[in-house]
Amino acid sequence: MAKYSTLLFIFLLLNSLLNFHASPEYSRPRPRPNIFTGLTRSKSEPEQVHISLLGKDHMRVTYITSHKHTKSIVEYGTSPGNYDKSSVTGERTSYRYFFYKSSEIHHVTIGPLGPNTTYYYKCGGSGPEFSFKTPPSTFPIEFAVVGDLGQTEWTTSTLAHVGAKDYDVLLLPGDLSYADTQQPLWDSFGRLVEPYASKRPWMVTNGNHEIEIFPIIHRFGFKAYNARWLMPYQQSGSTSNLYYSFDVAGCHIVMLGSYADFDVQSDQYAWLQADLAKVDRAVTPWIFALIHAPWYNSNLAHKGEGENMRKSMEELLYKARVDVVFAGHVHAYERFTRIYDNKVDPCGPIYVTIGDGGNREGLAMIFENPSPSISTFREASFGHGRLKVYNETYAHWSWHRNNETNTAMADELWIQSFASSKSCLPETTNFQEMKTHQKDEL
Ligand SMILES: [Fe+2]
Repeated sequence: MAKYSTLLFIFLLLNSLLNFHASPEYSRPRPRPNIFTGLTRSKSEPEQVHISLLGKDHMRVTYITSHKHTKSIVEYGTSPGNYDKSSVTGERTSYRYFFYKSSEIHHVTIGPLGPNTTYYYKCGGSGPEFSFKTPPSTFPIEFAVVGDLGQTEWTTSTLAHVGAKDYDVLLLPGDLSYADTQQPLWDSFGRLVEPYASKRPWMVTNGNHEIEIFPIIHRFGFKAYNARWLMPYQQSGSTSNLYYSFDVAGCHIVMLGSYADFDVQSDQYAWLQADLAKVDRAVTPWIFALIHAPWYNSNLAHKGEGENMRKSMEELLYKARVDVVFAGHVHAYERFTRIYDNKVDPCGPIYVTIGDGGNREGLAMIFENPSPSISTFREASFGHGRLKVYNETYAHWSWHRNNETNTAMADELWIQSFASSKSCLPETTNFQEMKTHQKDEL
């Protein structure tokens, strides 16, 4: 027993060290604790349902069952209770993390699906009916953007605001459950977000709270994240679930991994270079990128943590004329002007930190003073963002602060695409010219 207690103490100590990322001079306001969302259905019924985009006209439906023999099957159709199609295409997995053994995690691919169409579906042959709407195939399209979500009362407030107004796709730049190795909290998070993530595709990338590395035993980390939040990485030529890209309605979205290797020799770098070279601006006039640790940040929290990645990859995004880069990690909202290499540059991306979803650690209250000139708006409040892309030329970005039970738009910006800008886009729209230049430079 004493031996077990010692091992447990060492485990908890290492765990707390591995998951502590706040700067010592940074004091957080009182956070709200995690709320645990328990199972409300029969154990035989699928739970934690969420959907994600998979290629041009398919959707991946993910659900979890405690019964080993529940089938990986999704029945679906365009009217309630009438499932004229079904799919058994997919995979199932489970994982162990110390004494925790996950239930069966099913990933089922359905489609082809029509654009902007509501489908009704049932998972595993039992349980409640769910429904989702596919995104449109053309503009306009609206994204909800929220980072560092967690599962506190702040989270439920943010989610209520996200769900109160329609959107097509949710983008999450890392830090989902804040389970931090406590695996039942992954299940709790799956239940908390199901009412939203089963209705609209949730496209996520990873943050530091997904790492869950433990020396020797779980050396590579991301075990729960990769098993539960499988993203369409293979479809974009990536070899890792930690970084990928996808196209939706005229937008090319690049999801980067702040905690995968990113140096010029890395797989992620080579993949990003190839991915951006393939973008055809005539098909996807907009490019958005998501990372977790921000490359630009005037908050004292996590200062400089994205700097090595910025130094490695910023040029690729700049030359590809990425329109906006969204980051999380810092628990506040901040919007920067167009930047390249720390200077105002009309051909650089706009940088937005949106790590204010509602995590258990509280807000990052202290900003650098005075504000650097490249930072145009900053505020430490919980909230979420909306990116409505109206057409190939214009998009509207807005940030919605949580005012307790209400939400209020506190920042907004009209954005013109680089695809419509004569001064910033290379003459060739498919970037073959840039690819050639890059080869020449090498
Ligand atoms: Fe983070």
